[in-house]
Amino acid sequence: MKDLVPPHVERMIPYRPGKPVEELERELGIKNAVKLASNENPLGPSPKVVEALRSLASHTSRYPDGAAYELRRAVADHHAVGMDEVCLGNGSNELIDLLPRTFVGAGEHVVFGKPSFVCYWLAATASGAEFTEVPLRDHLHWDVDALLAAVRPETKLLFLANPNNPTGAYMGREDLSRLLTELPPQVVAVVDEAYVDFPDAEDYVSALELRQLRERLIVLRTFSKAHGLAALRVGYAIGDAALVGYLRRMRAPFNVNSFGQVAARIALEDPEHVAQYVAMNRSERRRVTSALSELGLTVAPSQANFVLVDFARPGAEVYDALLHQGVIVRPMAPPIDTWQRITLGTPQENDRLLAAIAATTAT
Ligand SMILES: Cc1ncc(COP(=O)(O)O)c(C=O)c1O
Repeated sequence: MKDLVPPHVERMIPYRPGKPVEELERELGIKNAVKLASNENPLGPSPKVVEALRSLASHTSRYPDGAAYELRRAVADHHAVGMDEVCLGNGSNELIDLLPRTFVGAGEHVVFGKPSFVCYWLAATASGAEFTEVPLRDHLHWDVDALLAAVRPETKLLFLANPNNPTGAYMGREDLSRLLTELPPQVVAVVDEAYVDFPDAEDYVSALELRQLRERLIVLRTFSKAHGLAALRVGYAIGDAALVGYLRRMRAPFNVNSFGQVAARIALEDPEHVAQYVAMNRSERRRVTSALSELGLTVAPSQANFVLVDFARPGAEVYDALLHQGVIVRPMAPPIDTWQRITLGTPQENDRLLAAIAATTAT
């Protein structure tokens, strides 16, 4: 149908999530599948969250607190910032989507990495903005000079995932400080820290510690990963009150539901649950990385809760072979289409993965 939508809407493609376990069961009749495709917490949420949600089950008839006061207060206190420096989102994804719509006007431009989180592409495209995708070094590592070189006078927004999805690479203190300092003043730098809990590299630093370097800085966090609340869709942005105030104007009414508001607040009160997962993830990251390397596969060094693995074979073939053994991973698009992104699960789940990969690579 010609002329129905503007060209930027025509270019949009639906986001393709990791395959749900139920879908695999429906399609291939495979039971007890393991999903290692969406970087979720394999231990689930804190038991304290589950308890709190139970008592909320009958509260569906009332709208949520539109200002999400209690959660915003808790997030602000957690980071020792003002409530006016916090904007909550329906997942950090809502905030990613709002950022170009909020800060990028007609003829202005956005910069982000490739490969990096696909939702930056989706958000920039949906807003109609122009954008540049900056290749990572060897497809894997952040390249500060290349990011800075892609910035133009009309660049208004830059997305940096740190650690990056899908590569698992991170940008250390020195490079991040240089990026935040050398970006021209008009650019709003967005550092997406969805995986902030997982790095153990000594020079990894949250951009929240570098706020003095740049006024136009927004840091994104989510409760979907380390806190195990992906289903409830809660994320947040922290930044200068003037910047974050514009995001708050643009967000949808009641964007964070009542269950998410309570669950996220309680999750912040249970740091031991996160610490337990983070410790397991770090030791499994080492174990799975060395087991895969022993199988002759290339594993990108990861600071996240997933690893990116090069099978040096067409990605669809490997993905399908693993699916048939009940293991769901995430195939990658070009230029890394021989790689799979694999979420690190529990030791038992990872054993299933390693056995399935050993069987697949033997064929
Ligand atoms: C880098 C990055 N940012 C943001 C998100 C989105 O998280 P949320 O569930 O908060 O929308 C993801 C999810 O995979 C991610 O990998």
